[in-house]
Amino acid sequence: MTNFEFYYKLTYRRAKDETRIHWHRDDPPRLLTEAVKAGGHGRALDIGCGTGVNSVYMAQHGYSVTAVDFVPQALPFGIRRAEREGVKIEFVAADITKFETAGNFDLILDFGCFHGFNEKDRLLYRDKLLSWLAEGGQYVLGHFYRSDAFGIGPRGRKKEEIENFFAPELKLENFILETDGKAISQYRFRRGMLE
Ligand SMILES: C[S@@+](CC[C@H](N)C(=O)[O-])C[C@H]1O[C@@H](n2cnc3c(N)ncnc32)[C@H](O)[C@@H]1O
Repeated sequence: MTNFEFYYKLTYRRAKDETRIHWHRDDPPRLLTEAVKAGGHGRALDIGCGTGVNSVYMAQHGYSVTAVDFVPQALPFGIRRAEREGVKIEFVAADITKFETAGNFDLILDFGCFHGFNEKDRLLYRDKLLSWLAEGGQYVLGHFYRSDAFGIGPRGRKKEEIENFFAPELKLENFILETDGKAISQYRFRRGMLE
């Protein structure tokens, strides 16, 4: 088990409610709302879904959602939220680097999962993402821009580095550099249509 996995497991196991989970937000990220406005239907995948806020948001906006997290204790938060909101979501406990699905997703979201990966898993992840994202589909990513000064937690990466990593298949359509101190940046990519 990696340090990250241990940390995530401990956080969800200890959390009596969502307010104890420091990355939990009740509102979806801005570029997810933008992607939903631009798309608004089809299949969506929430990678590292956590408490399921964004999975529920996508389901409420007409997507058929698969939500994956490798900490089984995270899923009940999302399951309860989906029940409360009256939406159906397929929740799966799995490591995304080992997850198998037929793919063809119109919208893939990863808010805070990918930036914790080592180099080997980053490459695996990219291959999987590209095999799952439909032509013309959107990929929304939330990723640390700056690393912690003491080297704790996910490594930050600059915009160019992220953009190059997913090129040429994915084209960046919008980017937000957060300035509120959390240093998590938002990216909205689109997969180019094949000629
Ligand atoms: C910072 S949290 C963000 C959760 C959620 N996306 C949100 O915005 O509230 C990152 C999540 O990714 C999950 N995660 C990390 N690595 C993963 C992996 N390899 N496979 C599946 N889930 C993973 C963690 O368990 C955690 O729930």
